[in-house]
Amino acid sequence: MGKLLITLLFFSGLMSYSQNNTSISGMDKITWKKVMPGVWKASFGKLGLNPLTYTNPPKSASIKELGDSPFPFNEELTLSQLTSERAIIRLPLNPTEKIYGLGLEFKGINRREGVYTLKVDHYGGVKGYTHAPVPFYVSNKGYGVLINTSKRLKIHVGVGNRKDSKKPEPIDRTTGENWDSRPLSDAVEASVQGDGLEVYVFTGTSTLEVVQRYNLFCGGGVLPPKWGLGFWHRMHTKSSSEDVHKEISDFKKNNFPIDVLGLEPGWQSFAYPCSFDWDETRFPNPRKFVKTLSDDGIKVNLWENPFVAPSSTMFNDIKPFTGSHTVWLGEVPDYTIPEAQKVLLNHHQKNHLDIGISGYKFDEVDGFDRWLWPDHATFPSGNDAVEIRQLYGQIMQKTVGDHLKKQNQRTYSLVRSAYIGASSSPFVIYSDHYDHKNYVTALVNASLAGLLWTPEVRSAESAEEWVRRFQTVCFSPLMQLDAWESGTKPWSFPEVTDIIRDNVTLRLNLLPYLYTAFSDYQQKGIPPFRAMVLEHGFNDTESLIGGKLDGEKNPYEEQIRMEVTDQYMMGPSILVAPVFSGETERQVVLPKGNWYNFYNGKLMGNGETITIKTKLEQIPLFVKDGGIIPMLSSKEEKNSKKSFLEVRHYGTKENTYHLYNDDGETFNYENGDHTLLKLKVVKQKNGELKGESKFTTNKKYVYGKVNWLWMTQQNKK
Ligand code: GAL
Repeated sequence: MGKLLITLLFFSGLMSYSQNNTSISGMDKITWKKVMPGVWKASFGKLGLNPLTYTNPPKSASIKELGDSPFPFNEELTLSQLTSERAIIRLPLNPTEKIYGLGLEFKGINRREGVYTLKVDHYGGVKGYTHAPVPFYVSNKGYGVLINTSKRLKIHVGVGNRKDSKKPEPIDRTTGENWDSRPLSDAVEASVQGDGLEVYVFTGTSTLEVVQRYNLFCGGGVLPPKWGLGFWHRMHTKSSSEDVHKEISDFKKNNFPIDVLGLEPGWQSFAYPCSFDWDETRFPNPRKFVKTLSDDGIKVNLWENPFVAPSSTMFNDIKPFTGSHTVWLGEVPDYTIPEAQKVLLNHHQKNHLDIGISGYKFDEVDGFDRWLWPDHATFPSGNDAVEIRQLYGQIMQKTVGDHLKKQNQRTYSLVRSAYIGASSSPFVIYSDHYDHKNYVTALVNASLAGLLWTPEVRSAESAEEWVRRFQTVCFSPLMQLDAWESGTKPWSFPEVTDIIRDNVTLRLNLLPYLYTAFSDYQQKGIPPFRAMVLEHGFNDTESLIGGKLDGEKNPYEEQIRMEVTDQYMMGPSILVAPVFSGETERQVVLPKGNWYNFYNGKLMGNGETITIKTKLEQIPLFVKDGGIIPMLSSKEEKNSKKSFLEVRHYGTKENTYHLYNDDGETFNYENGDHTLLKLKVVKQKNGELKGESKFTTNKKYVYGKVNWLWMTQQNKK
């Protein structure tokens, strides 16, 4: 209670703290230009390497469909300044405002009161040093800000008071109360060492809409090929083609699927630096090898890092386009030069793509300082080494993604760094950092920055941990087992093998639901896996009180709940609450509205925090009232060769859902070659729910005959 009182006092203290006009010396008022409905741009000085060059063009029609909303700031309070060293901006912050985003952080969600140096780096625990330090932040007040630069942005989110700003009264630490080591400031201040910046402001009627606008501005979301949403497995780096065949047969024996098989460095004749050429001893006939796997329905994914070994068949061609320094003694291509991109694409087309390789795992495009080139390195394009490093992963994604698109081929690939505007890029980020809780936080934060993240499974200390990590990856953008180094197989803990298989099967059966969620990402920019703060009814203060305090608003509780990073949304209706090893119960914050247990359809709560007992075999999943979940049917209908689509309905509400389907591998969908099946639940006169299904387009891509399953209605009987 004491804590509550302090918090209430703290918040009421803020009420008197206003954001009236200030005149900040030396700074100029920013002039904003509206570029699209709900999108404003400002620029000053010179930009340098423009990150937006490596994103897809805005989906203007979809942005227009979102409608318009007013500029979120008092323009007088948006300021910029160019000094001889730095380009600086200052944007207003409301005292109670929460700020999310800034890329793939492993810790926390509210960025308020933090100072971040946004630098592409391997995870090292420094704020802002991460695989994808995206300079885009979202406010819970309905706007987002993108600071478009390829320099390292240093951003102070509501800390650091200028002497000429509106600031709180100082408190004497000895005699006063509530002295604060970080007195609240009224602004976000950010700067780069450079000659200029571009800034974009995105508005929205909800936090989700802000994120949607940002994603749509960067080309919308990616629609992976269907195989990409299957099961991924990576081989040991020393494996040969024979080892791969043996591994596949072991998977079959143990009744586990493989949709994508990843080869680690040793598929090459030389690695670290890389030759990008097949090793003839381990893979004597790559064409036949890839074809055999493909005939078995398995795609092959190749690991590589960008650094070119002298023995590579592309070495001589790329050499004129490499920088001053080496990495692991390999040369570093300058892929800001189109000719350099051509060298890479020609080589990869001939040696990999022509024989059926489906995609890559681009490693080390982040890297620690001690591995990569120094900031003073020079590159033949004349571009700054710092900017090249910041954009390296993004440029590789765009180069290869666009190349495959020209061939009308979708990929789903892996990469260890991304930057601004990655949402339409067919790459998922991973890390060597291996902390289960941090992995879930990363998944949550990724959704606020146009990123996809895989909490891949590598090893475990117990059967329980093996299960819990598997469950999380089954409910993530990319279900990958990357245990080549530890040698752990899905069946390595025999007591839980069936549980693991059931979870993988559940994920695979959810394909129609998940694929439709990705189609919403592609068309509307809605992240398929989302932070709870993007969910309607979660930010609503009343729903957060949970009736526990006699209706009294409790800002402290609200604050805690709005920083939830251990649960997230998957698609429109499913809330995922992973369990971590050692936990026998957990709390789940349910947004406003009724929520039901996915497995049995029972009502679990409404706008409240519940505590549930966990079961090892299940990852807790909750479905919102009216939720329609189309799934591949795991049960074969007797005497029937037909496939079925099991459509589950939860709760008591009527609802309509548009199930999306297409050929699953080409871009023909962009020209209308896709099928929509309208699934509608209506209440009849007797109060019972009834399901209707109707194609609203052609019937070309069909999962099977619709079987409705009334998860909650049946319970009542
Ligand atoms: C690491 C990468 C791992 C694995 C390894 C191969 O840098 O993060 O996933 O691919 O390289 O050497």
